[in-house]
Amino acid sequence: MRSDISVRAATQREVPEVVSMFLEVLRLIPYYNELAKHDEAAKYTASNLRTRLRDDAYSVTVAEDDSGLIGFAFTRFDDYVIWIEWFGVDPASRRRGVGSAIIQGLIRTAPTRKAHKIWCDTRITNEPAKATFRKNGFRQIAKLKNHWYGQDFILWERPV
Ligand SMILES: CC(C)(COP(=O)(O)OP(=O)(O)OC[C@H]1O[C@@H](n2cnc3c(N)ncnc32)[C@H](O)[C@@H]1OP(=O)(O)O)[C@@H](O)C(=O)NCCC(=O)NCCS
Repeated sequence: MRSDISVRAATQREVPEVVSMFLEVLRLIPYYNELAKHDEAAKYTASNLRTRLRDDAYSVTVAEDDSGLIGFAFTRFDDYVIWIEWFGVDPASRRRGVGSAIIQGLIRTAPTRKAHKIWCDTRITNEPAKATFRKNGFRQIAKLKNHWYGQDFILWERPV
């Protein structure tokens, strides 16, 4: 991982900034239909993320450098596996290894969370996310046609 990027659990105070970054990433993302964008925006509110953080300190993860917060991940511990719900990098900080740093940070904390595997989905057309997962040792499990929000997805997994 690049030494100028740190990945750690978010604090309660950072939640509003994380929500803003998430909403901006969601607004710009070209892979999701309007229904997905609308419902996902409604799901990850400050109140929701604060509750998640109280239940699981690792559920909201942030990446930062000297300039401040530059990336985030929302994850869920579920029967000893971790599901990555979302991860994203501030558009101005992309292609600098931040996405990989976030995934590696999640992998590092998996034993503390007693998880033996991390899994996630991507849209079939999301090449940056697919490349980031591949580069960090994830393998494609399956393709799901006409799935969440009526869209096509790939499922990925990585033992940890
Ligand atoms: C996916 C995302 C988090 C990647 O973040 P990032 O910081 O740019 O990723 P990295 O710089 O760590 O790149 C990791 C690898 O992915 C690949 N990659 C990343 N962006 C790419 C792009 N636009 N085109 C092609 N390959 C790309 C590269 O192979 C890179 O490996 P390299 O360092 O050897 O070149 C970022 O593009 C993003 O926030 N996208 C919008 C939100 C999103 O799609 N989230 C995933 C939902 S499942």
